[in-house]
Amino acid sequence: MPDVLYFNGRFTTTDERVLGVEDRGFQFGDSIYEVFKFLRKRPLFLPDHFRRLEVGLRAIEIPNPWTESSFRATVEELLKRTQFDEGIVYIQVSRGEGERVHFYPENMKPTALMYTRRFKFPDAAKKERGVRMITTEDQRWRQCCLKSVNLLANSMAKKRAQRAGADEALLLDGGFVREGASSSFFAIRNGAIITHPLDEHILPGVVRDHAISLALAEKIRVDERPLREAELFDMNEAFMTSTTQGIMPVTEIDGRIIGDSRRGEITGQLQRLFDAVELTEAGV
Ligand code: PDD
Repeated sequence: MPDVLYFNGRFTTTDERVLGVEDRGFQFGDSIYEVFKFLRKRPLFLPDHFRRLEVGLRAIEIPNPWTESSFRATVEELLKRTQFDEGIVYIQVSRGEGERVHFYPENMKPTALMYTRRFKFPDAAKKERGVRMITTEDQRWRQCCLKSVNLLANSMAKKRAQRAGADEALLLDGGFVREGASSSFFAIRNGAIITHPLDEHILPGVVRDHAISLALAEKIRVDERPLREAELFDMNEAFMTSTTQGIMPVTEIDGRIIGDSRRGEITGQLQRLFDAVELTEAGV
């Protein structure tokens, strides 16, 4: 069944072919995207996602088609028209459609779209089992803090992970661990959490932020510093975070067991706290 689609000021469904072939998002990856989760038709952490969209658009000089309130209104209308209660919303704003030239004209009219999609979020068994990762070279561009749709390096890294029988790729760059191909990464050693600081090497993950706040509230130490590759196999626990996976234990990297191969204690504690925060957001 087609999904509900908002496209440049009107609602339709995803079976309508709306995008022009000369849209710069399609031809140049000249656009910013967002993904948020909804439960009981309630968007989770919407202000965080709006803020990140705004920062990304400003960085690449695309005018934001929404104010925070018109964004929320559009999301609410989209969810109202959607026939299921939980899933994800994918949003993309590109510079717009026009003759294919590298130097883009000023004042293009942005293409703005969002649509809902069903999504199978991890169940209790998966949350306990966790995921396997492989390490691979970070071949992305140098502004990974922007949620740009240039995801070729990410998707190739993830394909390598899949071919190796793993769930996610952990990106290494110059001897440092950056983040997952579509997730933030956390190591735990001697009761303290280590995660990459916010800079151009990683995306400022919405769930990352919540995980750090929850850890600090639990008086767990958080060191925001790049983990060295050599430290990878000297961890007691590891987890990754993302909008679709929440807080997810990492039990194996490159075939080597992390901790005792089961969800670690601190990971489990943060996972339960985060799941509760999500439910509160959804008004459960
Ligand atoms: N990906 N790092 C990268 C490279 C990501 O693509 C994502 C999310 C994250 C986690 O960010 P957040 O907690 O805000 O979801 C970190 C989304 C889910 C995607 O591309 O589908």
